[in-house]
Amino acid sequence: MNRINKWLVAMTLEEKVGQLNMLASSQAVTGPGNRRAVEEDIRAGRIGSLLNLWGGNQARAVQRIAVDESRLGIPLLLTLDVIHGHRTIFPVPLAEACLFDPDLWEKTARAAAAEATLDGIALTFAPMLDVARDPRWGRIVEGPGEDPWVASQFAAAKTRGFQGDDLGAAHSLAAVAKHLCAYGAVTAGREYASADLSDRTLREIYLPPFSAAVAAGTAAIMPAFIDIAGVPMTANAPLLQGWLRGQLGFEGVLISDYNAVAELLNHGVAKDIAEAAALALKAGVDIDMMSNAYTQGLPEALERGLVTMGEIDASVRRVLELKERLGLFDDPYRRGSAKPETGDARALAREAARRAIVLLSCKGDILPLSPDIGHVALIGPLAAAPGEMVGPWSSAGLGDDAVSFLDGLKAALPECRIDSASGVDVDSQSLQGIPAAVELCRNAELTVLCLGEDVSMSGEAASRTDLDLPGCQRTLAEKVLDLGKPVVVLLSSGRPLVSPWLFERADAVLATWFLGSEAGNAVADVLTGKFNPTGKLAITWPRNVGQVPVFYGQRPTGRPTKAGERYTSSYLDLPVTPQFPFGHGLSYSRFTLSDLRCSPSCAKPGESVEISLMVRNDSLADGEATLFLFVRDLVASVARPLLELKAFRKIALSVGEQGWVNWTLPIDSLNFVGLDLRPVLEPGQFEIHVGQSADPGELLTTIFELIP
Ligand code: BGC
Repeated sequence: MNRINKWLVAMTLEEKVGQLNMLASSQAVTGPGNRRAVEEDIRAGRIGSLLNLWGGNQARAVQRIAVDESRLGIPLLLTLDVIHGHRTIFPVPLAEACLFDPDLWEKTARAAAAEATLDGIALTFAPMLDVARDPRWGRIVEGPGEDPWVASQFAAAKTRGFQGDDLGAAHSLAAVAKHLCAYGAVTAGREYASADLSDRTLREIYLPPFSAAVAAGTAAIMPAFIDIAGVPMTANAPLLQGWLRGQLGFEGVLISDYNAVAELLNHGVAKDIAEAAALALKAGVDIDMMSNAYTQGLPEALERGLVTMGEIDASVRRVLELKERLGLFDDPYRRGSAKPETGDARALAREAARRAIVLLSCKGDILPLSPDIGHVALIGPLAAAPGEMVGPWSSAGLGDDAVSFLDGLKAALPECRIDSASGVDVDSQSLQGIPAAVELCRNAELTVLCLGEDVSMSGEAASRTDLDLPGCQRTLAEKVLDLGKPVVVLLSSGRPLVSPWLFERADAVLATWFLGSEAGNAVADVLTGKFNPTGKLAITWPRNVGQVPVFYGQRPTGRPTKAGERYTSSYLDLPVTPQFPFGHGLSYSRFTLSDLRCSPSCAKPGESVEISLMVRNDSLADGEATLFLFVRDLVASVARPLLELKAFRKIALSVGEQGWVNWTLPIDSLNFVGLDLRPVLEPGQFEIHVGQSADPGELLTTIFELIP
């Protein structure tokens, strides 16, 4: 008998339920009383996983209690939200998505795993794969943007990065793909609200990233807090048991979100804690994070016949199998002992951060800054704010270790005088500091305005309805702009900010998100031209909150939009086009696209077509172009979106250079969710569109035919 079977025979009900119980350590729940209680529970086998405890020594100490002092000696699973870096912080995921670079996505996850495992962590609650199209929702910052195909690439890269080739290795972290699913579709962008969408939309948009994570071998999955059309995901047997475990064959662990099992009572689908526990367990949720519903409710649920011992055992077995795969039974102290051979994490953070910066607008030749610039004013509440650079999920990363914009620019321009003032706070009503800040701008050659949100305005429980600059930042910006001198804006945020006036008036605006530990250096690289920007929006940028949700993959309408014409799909008061389309992002180079070809011009299922395109650098700066390949299925049994992303590619070109970009497009990738909700591939004509963004006006187009 293997050790898992032996344990299953030897365990009491309390010990079994203990393996399904995840609680926070004293690092999260303060006070010596709590710490003692947690330790006593570990000793008694009542806790199988711990959340929020890190640090080699701490991890070893708590693990020793489980291994040496509990009856069966089963090691603990130590877990943490390592979302975009652990000690070295990389850009927030929405910013990292703008890299469109699976290799770098993987590398930053690998580096985070190396640091987190050294701190004793064995599992991270990442990657977050919620496709999101509504920037009112604060958690849009945590995910890969609006596109399911991009999210699927992101899922695979992050899972590979966290888990490595061998989950049992000392520097591998178990990944938890979250939050299954449609959390990004909460009503009106309001946190924790219900989502109501069709089965088709689930299958086309919200489930594919989770399929990709499963295909990449994710060890675990977390159901979302929310309900979908009245069925909370924590109790959603059709999706968790039916789709995930049944259809996809997922055999890993399901971990509830924080307190979500007990919250089934608030959802109104369980009348007591035993019912809540039974609903979640029967839906396939193995671990109860923080709600104590399993410890309090499962024994009674068993007595009342709401669950069987077989169902409890199945969950315990999955948890123990995960611990085994992580190598915890062979060596519970493996993580936290050996320093990994990794590259320079700070250099990687700088590279990822400068690649995540999106140059949204730029007039004339204001950027890059002239190397002779002698006097700059760096103004705004985010100018010298290292703590804000690390974003809302900074794991063990410290704001004090992050490079502020001011420090980054000072280091890059040692000869330049840089005057700095905040002028206003991020979100207060005080105008007091504005006159002095404006004075600094009056005397400088150029102003860099550092505006945006602070970290508390993004992330969980940070939904907003007004997406313009908070507080009095607009007043500050307008006073500075009124001087009529050059102004470059650094816009820090976890979502697109809706400030059309700013794009109109400022000479240049850069989306600088929350860029992490190397934020200031990355921004200085871009401003000075040491790095030519390549970031591309992974999310459509609205011009007005009233347009939300606005995304590129819209379906055609019977009455296509005609600007200014009534009875077409449009608004009376605003264009339907966004401020910036998906994929938008300027460069100091200018690229010309030509010769889009597709060969052969017809193909059958199982075959593929070759697509190629010529790109020329027509500017005076070496640079890197990003090309997006979209398709449109012209006639199908279910109307297909006007554009659907199928691939992207980057090409580096020096001044005057040209080069071909090639893709092989498998015909089978053109399948879609048919009328019966199963994948179908239908013959007919497909348009291929290639461009530097999803702006329809700038796409090159060709056509091919899928023949039976
Ligand atoms: C969040 C999860 C997170 C968990 C543990 C919850 O509030 O929704 O994304 O993994 O807390 O920190």
